[in-house]
Amino acid sequence: MTTATSLEAEVGARFDQLHDRFKQTLPREDVRLRGLIESLGTIRGQRILDLGCGKGRFGRRLAEEGATVVGLDRSRAMLAQASDLPRIHASARRLPLCTAMFDAVIAVEVIEHLPAMDDVLHEVHRVLRPGGLFAIVDKNAGALNSKRPWIPALAVKAIDERRGRWMYPHGGPVRERWFWPEALKMRLRDAGFDHLRVTHLLSPREAAWAVFRRVPRTRLLTLWTARALGGSNVG
Ligand SMILES: C[S@@+](CC[C@H](N)C(=O)[O-])C[C@H]1O[C@@H](n2cnc3c(N)ncnc32)[C@H](O)[C@@H]1O
Repeated sequence: MTTATSLEAEVGARFDQLHDRFKQTLPREDVRLRGLIESLGTIRGQRILDLGCGKGRFGRRLAEEGATVVGLDRSRAMLAQASDLPRIHASARRLPLCTAMFDAVIAVEVIEHLPAMDDVLHEVHRVLRPGGLFAIVDKNAGALNSKRPWIPALAVKAIDERRGRWMYPHGGPVRERWFWPEALKMRLRDAGFDHLRVTHLLSPREAAWAVFRRVPRTRLLTLWTARALGGSNVG
């Protein structure tokens, strides 16, 4: 039987295996980092959880801006390269962290790998203080391909998956999921978040095409932000 635990172990093992493919640092300018910084407001003094921190490249930059950052990840090989951050090897589904201990949780290209998203949203809500910010960067299922913007990006992904060019083997139990912006917003609302916002980030490659500049919903990288409602209104 395929359970969330076994799927999660499969994802963790895949990141352990392929960790060399992932970068440890960010360029000076990065649209995802810029989006996070703009939504976090004053960063100095904030307590931030970098959920699925990987090698810690986003958490590290926020720590440089004065935040107290904890990184958490399911892959030991990824986490090994985040040694400059306080870090925890754990699953996003069961956070070994106290209730209401963070002002913000960031998850950059992580939710797309999680088999049991509702458990994770519940845990994120629990560790955020009331009013705390949850910022997700993930991929927009409605995007166009940045090299050939007349083709849906999701179609190119499906072809690449079939050709074995994606990180999970084709036909296996795990797939990277992309999100329809409104659908993920609704999931967040159902999990007890409000002040829901979607921002479509313009990558440098997309900026070369008028369609991406003019029609934000065609862009791939998307930032969802939401605030944890006070009290315990979630199961
Ligand atoms: C694409 S990487 C992104 C890493 C980092 N956020 C960044 O952008 O550099 C996705 C990360 O999510 C982690 N991850 C996947 N499933 C997880 C889970 N269930 N709990 C915690 N981390 C998980 C992976 O190990 C991996 O490091």
